[in-house]
Amino acid sequence: MKTAATDIRYMTRALRLAARGRERTSPNPMVGAVVVCRGRVVGEGFHLRAGSPHAEVLALQAAGPQARGGTLYLTLEPCSHTRKRTPPCVPAILASGIRRVVVAMRDPNPQVNGEGIRKLKRAGLSVSVGCLEQQAEQLNDSYTHRMRTGRPMVVLKMAMTLDGKTATSSGESQWITGPAARRHAHQLRTQVDAIMVGINTVLTDDPQLTIRLGHPITRQPLRVIMDSSLRIPTTARVLSPRLRRGTLIATTRHAPRARLARFRRQGISVLVLPMEKGRVSLRACLAQLARRGVNRLLIEGGSELAASALQAGVVNRLRLYIAPRLLGGTDARGVIGGVCPSRLAHAFALSSLSVKKIGPDLLIEGML
Ligand SMILES: NC(=O)c1ccc[n+]([C@@H]2O[C@H](COP(=O)([O-])OP(=O)(O)OC[C@H]3O[C@@H](n4cnc5c(N)ncnc54)[C@H](OP(=O)(O)O)[C@@H]3O)[C@@H](O)[C@H]2O)c1
Repeated sequence: MKTAATDIRYMTRALRLAARGRERTSPNPMVGAVVVCRGRVVGEGFHLRAGSPHAEVLALQAAGPQARGGTLYLTLEPCSHTRKRTPPCVPAILASGIRRVVVAMRDPNPQVNGEGIRKLKRAGLSVSVGCLEQQAEQLNDSYTHRMRTGRPMVVLKMAMTLDGKTATSSGESQWITGPAARRHAHQLRTQVDAIMVGINTVLTDDPQLTIRLGHPITRQPLRVIMDSSLRIPTTARVLSPRLRRGTLIATTRHAPRARLARFRRQGISVLVLPMEKGRVSLRACLAQLARRGVNRLLIEGGSELAASALQAGVVNRLRLYIAPRLLGGTDARGVIGGVCPSRLAHAFALSSLSVKKIGPDLLIEGML
């Protein structure tokens, strides 16, 4: 179906508005709306954060009676379900007197999934779907991924030397890359809902897993520690009184009962999950995180967790920072742990590769 140039123009405006909610709307998607009547924009809005009014409601409020007989441009299908904090948008659209609705994409949320569009059509409105659909999909790629797969979009980030080592034979890994690459990597934390590490990384590096640099910090990502037998010491920085509320420990039935009870009494969130190969099942953990509204997860290592994530086929993007140094040594840790496949054909292949220089270091990004 050919899309009219005016539809593209107004949908582009709606998409730009939607993007203003970046890093704030999760677990909700970013949504923008524009109301046009007799060739004039009479109202617009975007979703600011979860729990605040939806874009179309704001745009219709701004338009008031001028919306009557007009067209509503929406980057995502309007909601029609009531199981959320804000009222459904379809009744607001019907009450506004809007005659035509142009929607960029269907909402893959199973509670919507075409129902909003059907209700508008049933009420006699003209509805077109698919204007700038690809751009709308891209804008909310992690939200749509979660809705379609039941797990968050996963970014795996690692730093290594030119010969693929992530730590010395004694486990020293701070810092392989220079300050510019570290700042760049840190920035990635602002774009995710949760950060995950394996327990060995906590025991070796005692990280905080918080956003500490850059622009006004509006929220901190959830910290997730994969720890099958609850080895984490209560003195770990992620369990300090300041950070423990935003930390989740994923463990298994191998966690000593008394220790589990003590952690819970201390207000530490511990999730007992099924096991896979003797460890916390990564897939079960991702499903839980998706249920908690985590759209985008950053895995920050170490090499064992990185290997598990690749083998489970859950990594969507890889970010590899490479320092121009060589460590050598068969006893120095490699970037991906686990067991090496016997055939080259079984290697994990990257696509859509990009290479960038950051200070003296390199950043290679790719999709899996
Ligand atoms: N260069 C980098 O980018 C970077 C990043 C992070 C860390 N590091 C370095 O890497 C080293 C630690 O890495 P590591 O490979 O030894 O350990 P790791 O990946 O941090 O942790 C692995 C441990 O996590 C637990 N775990 C629970 N569920 C798991 C699952 N599904 N898959 C994998 N692990 C699971 C296991 O212990 P249990 O069986 O006890 O649960 C496992 O032994 C440190 O020296 C650290 O400094 C480097």
